[in-house]
Amino acid sequence: MSNLLGRHRAVMPRWVSLYYDDPIEIVSGKGRRVTDSDGRSYLDFFGGILTNMLGYDVPEVREAVERQLRTGVAHTSTLYLIRTQVELAEKIAELSGIANAKVFFTNSGTEANETALLLATNARRSDQVLALRNSYHGRSYAATAVTGNRSWKNSSLSPVNVHYLHGADRARFTHLSDEEFQAFCVDDLQHVLDTATATDVACLIVEPVQGVGGFTAAPDGLLARYREILDRYGILLVSDEVQTGWGRTGEHFWGLQAHGVTPHIMTFAKGLGNGFAIGGVVADGTLMDALPANGISTFGGNPIATAAAKATLDYLLAHDLQANAHRLGRLLIDGLRTAADRLPVVRDVRGKGLMFAVDLVDPGTGAPSASLAARVLEHAKERGLLIGKGGLYGHTLRMAPPLTLTEAEAREGLGILVDSLAAAC
Ligand SMILES: Cc1ncc(COP(=O)(O)O)c(C=O)c1O
Repeated sequence: MSNLLGRHRAVMPRWVSLYYDDPIEIVSGKGRRVTDSDGRSYLDFFGGILTNMLGYDVPEVREAVERQLRTGVAHTSTLYLIRTQVELAEKIAELSGIANAKVFFTNSGTEANETALLLATNARRSDQVLALRNSYHGRSYAATAVTGNRSWKNSSLSPVNVHYLHGADRARFTHLSDEEFQAFCVDDLQHVLDTATATDVACLIVEPVQGVGGFTAAPDGLLARYREILDRYGILLVSDEVQTGWGRTGEHFWGLQAHGVTPHIMTFAKGLGNGFAIGGVVADGTLMDALPANGISTFGGNPIATAAAKATLDYLLAHDLQANAHRLGRLLIDGLRTAADRLPVVRDVRGKGLMFAVDLVDPGTGAPSASLAARVLEHAKERGLLIGKGGLYGHTLRMAPPLTLTEAEAREGLGILVDSLAAAC
């Protein structure tokens, strides 16, 4: 065991788990490639868990941060005006599609979702929340409470009352057609509202494509049908776009747009700062302003993070990376589907844009196989490709390369993935 790994294990919590039998330390990066402390280079198809959205060492982001650092000011607090914060909020409010939107910046996705739940429960004077099975919304008290995935559910204690809905668990209902499944889900939501909840419900929180859950999603259009019902009761819709925002899904800028619906509240984090810590919540201004007391997030929206985020967003829009995600996502997903025909360990290939996944099963029993997923991760690493895993049973490979991926890199990564899957068969 390397010295650093031993030291890590001695002082870091057991539940902060590391990838690989022999975990790596990434010491440098450029573009879509990183190098570890042994000098080995990897093509990165996980981007620090969808966070290095533009890749590594992007001059525009580096220069924006260096410019801010040169002023001598890394932090001022929200007691004072922060120009980049206001400019970034204006941009996000406009991009959100939410009318009269206001934005509050946080340091993480968890904190963003906490804020969204605070807004919704305050506005509705209710502690009842709906969430989707298999969801992940963060690690704090309330975010854990709306998380429907046992692997990440550290407590059942909760500041909110949660009811879980079907939708993203399509794979459990293969005996139903798409239309039958949607009708079942809609009926189930109505049944929950009629029979299980105590009158007023604050909100439904959803990931348009579930991240940790293995890039599973409710069929397109279902969340619009949910919204139709929710609207009858005034129940708010919260879209957790922490993984799906900024064009990653290719077909849309926000994941929820696949359902043809706009949320009341949207949360974001991860990719926005291209590695710098920033998250936030964007909501209808009246909803946002309705909190009765003061609120700050000391580091939220600080000058460094907002400078990085603004540069990242400008770059993303100027280079139309959503279109790139769409085009290369197609190439990768189609390529994997073709290869899957001759790979008995592959149960399902799915995804949108540069957010795609492969489910692995034991070819003998058809049971989800977490050990196979771990093996493919090792094979990919040996061949110079970093990928992720997840899913309800830990049996899903998750790929989400930086949105700046080139076609050559997409083909290279696809080749390694297919080889790694074949090696695990
Ligand atoms: C969909 C989703 N929401 C919220 C979070 C929590 O974000 P953070 O880890 O920045 O607190 C995550 C993190 O993986 C996520 O994937």
